Amino acid sequence: MYNSVNITKDICWVGVNDRQSRVFENLWPLDHGVAHNSYLIVDDKVALVDTAAEGQAGDFFRKVESIIGTEKEVDYLIVNHMEPDHSGLMKALLDRNPDMKIVGNKKTFGLIESFYGITSNLVEVKEGDEIQLGKHTLKFFMTPMVHWPETMVTYETHTKALFSGDAFGSFGSLDGGIFDDEVNLSFFEEEMRRYYSNIVGKYGAPVQRAINKLSSLDINYICSTHGPIWRTEPSRVISLYDKWSKQEGEEGAVIVYGTMYGNTAKMAELIAQSLSEQGIKNIKLYDSSKTHISYILRDIWKYNGLIIGSCAYNTNLFPPIEALTEKLKHVGLKNKSLGIFGTYSWSGGGVNNLQKFADEVKISPVAEPVEAKCATCDSDINGLKNLAQKMAESLKSDK
Ligand SMILES: Cc1cc2nc3c(=O)[nH]c(=O)nc-3n(C[C@H](O)[C@H](O)[C@H](O)COP(=O)(O)O)c2cc1C
Ligand SMILES: [Fe+2]
Ligand SMILES: [Fe+2]
Repeated sequence: MYNSVNITKDICWVGVNDRQSRVFENLWPLDHGVAHNSYLIVDDKVALVDTAAEGQAGDFFRKVESIIGTEKEVDYLIVNHMEPDHSGLMKALLDRNPDMKIVGNKKTFGLIESFYGITSNLVEVKEGDEIQLGKHTLKFFMTPMVHWPETMVTYETHTKALFSGDAFGSFGSLDGGIFDDEVNLSFFEEEMRRYYSNIVGKYGAPVQRAINKLSSLDINYICSTHGPIWRTEPSRVISLYDKWSKQEGEEGAVIVYGTMYGNTAKMAELIAQSLSEQGIKNIKLYDSSKTHISYILRDIWKYNGLIIGSCAYNTNLFPPIEALTEKLKHVGLKNKSLGIFGTYSWSGGGVNNLQKFADEVKISPVAEPVEAKCATCDSDINGLKNLAQKMAESLKSDK
């Protein structure tokens, strides 16, 4: 079955689900798939907003043709975003619709030429420009770095639908329902935050600029390129994005550790128990060797507290913890209460590098770092309890 779905009378979802790929961007686990959403607007002129990935041609074109047939042409392709998961079928679409206009901004066209060798049929739009399709009018707003430099969003003034590109997108395929009121929202909120923190997280400032720019729009639908269509309470997801882009978390802590033989893990458990005794209920404890970093980052984005532990490993951090700290530096971690701890047997490498990380992200740990030699002794246990107490105090004072 290749069903498209009506969003309004004339706007259709012609997105494609990918339940086959194991990873997104050849990197991020897709345990529950992902949707590549595309939208068809049928009026006097026909417009498509974004396409899908190259390998999804079969499903995609069948859905488009189920609405407009093979005779009617697509008049406009609106290119909100050039990442190949959305632009991959541009060339094939142009081959089928040789008169189609490709709408983008100056930065879009450089990428179109470099990716696909297309230099004709291009229509450049600038901030606030409009294209009339009939009763539908498309209005364009530039939102650079949400998620690439050429990124823009398209607002349809008649239905008040915002085609937002990757913004407000989520992992997770659309397995039946496509609207927020038809799906399990708590699942999608988790997957949306995993998408945000891993894919867009570095670009908090551009997201803030985009939110401010779009704040005057009256929005009935948010149609993202991934995940459900938000029609019930679009303002709710906007406020989630607002919070995430400012890295404002909730009361709770992620404890993540790197261990070979379990000594560092025991310290983590002790911290978790002490935190619980201090009344902290949201505690996520992760072994960095087992859980993919994308899930750990998702929860780091959720909570105000972050406690990282590492055994020493060849004078350095344990490799998955090294990868995590690099990622956290890269995304510009801020607004966290931070705790650090670890283990060593001779000259160290774990805790001193965690301290270096804390210095680099300019967050001073809430308590003295605790470093156990081989296994924890009584003074280490006191240190860990102190760390937990200071963390709990810090989390509660964030309220
Ligand atoms: C492959 C390997 C490399 C290590 N490198 C160091 C090191 O550079 N400096 C150090 O002080 N200890 C080093 N150690 C010792 C461990 O950090 C130490 O035994 C620690 O307590 C292990 O913690 P765990 O039980 O959580 O794995 C190394 C151990 C192994 C197995
Ligand atoms: Fe993207
Ligand atoms: Fe995308």
